Amino acid sequence: MKHFINIKDISTPVLRKIIFDAKKRKLKRKKLNVLEVDKDQPLKGKLLIQMFEKSSTRTRLSFYLAIRQLGGGILTLRTDELHLAKGESLPDTARILSTYGNAFMLRTDSDEKLKEFKKYISIPIINGLSPSSHPTQILSDVFTIEEIKKKNISKLNICWIGDSNNVLNSLIEASVKFSFKLKIGCPKKYNPNKYLMTWAKNNKGNIKIFNDPKKAIINSDVVLTDKVISMNDKVNKQKKKKEFKNFKITSKLMKLAPKACFLHCLPRGKEVSDEVFYGNKSKVWQQALNRVYVQKSILLYCFDKLR
Ligand code: CP
Ligand code: NVA
Repeated sequence: MKHFINIKDISTPVLRKIIFDAKKRKLKRKKLNVLEVDKDQPLKGKLLIQMFEKSSTRTRLSFYLAIRQLGGGILTLRTDELHLAKGESLPDTARILSTYGNAFMLRTDSDEKLKEFKKYISIPIINGLSPSSHPTQILSDVFTIEEIKKKNISKLNICWIGDSNNVLNSLIEASVKFSFKLKIGCPKKYNPNKYLMTWAKNNKGNIKIFNDPKKAIINSDVVLTDKVISMNDKVNKQKKKKEFKNFKITSKLMKLAPKACFLHCLPRGKEVSDEVFYGNKSKVWQQALNRVYVQKSILLYCFDKLR
């Protein structure tokens, strides 16, 4: 069974194959309307069930388009509409999903739940964001970076300024898998996950942490950030926002990386100025659209149809 749960569990050749397939498919459907199906209809007749325990705009819409463009159909659920929220067990729910559907995409507020679903489900499962990772986002961002920079990402300096959250965790995993340099800028109190940093170190990762945003950003090719407060954050929000005050991406900060483009998974908060966010270095809309293409190839990987 081919699940897509974390980048670090998937081999580099397979991740590369997904990106290559996405590139090919994106190019091939240039003239097609948004709901026209790819000529080969590789997932004709297949049903993707997606379930959200947390809000989503992009992941929801891009998976919808992804499966439709591959010839399949989709059902979107919210946990609170299911008996699962009212006492039906997770194992029974997983068995039912496997009876009706062909793949399951889950956005969850608990990594444990993702593991439990994986244990009891007999169809591929995709992690559409958990408290600890956001792998479909980051694989798509690798695709977008190579598309913009027209270079293999291993030749680029990538910089993350912001919270050590789920998106950064997946970026750390990607930096090892795709061998790119990653500089992280965050307040010391919010340094990245130690377990993941040790894993990266043991796997030849080239990752540096700076508690000064200027040191982190200097001469980078790409600058990424995300909201200071994530959906799963149960912290004193005002206090945390204050602690990140000096880590806001402004035009002044971006000047230290004159060649850099700016990416943000969205939705945004105040961690980036309007000038940068709506400026010509920002590629956030292209980044959001590319999720459709990369998710198509992730789906094909899960359905064992990646050629
Ligand atoms: N970037 C992202 O996953 O967006 P949504 O939360 O809107 O799905
Ligand atoms: N880190 C953010 C990502 C949203 C797409 C969150 O988990 O809320």
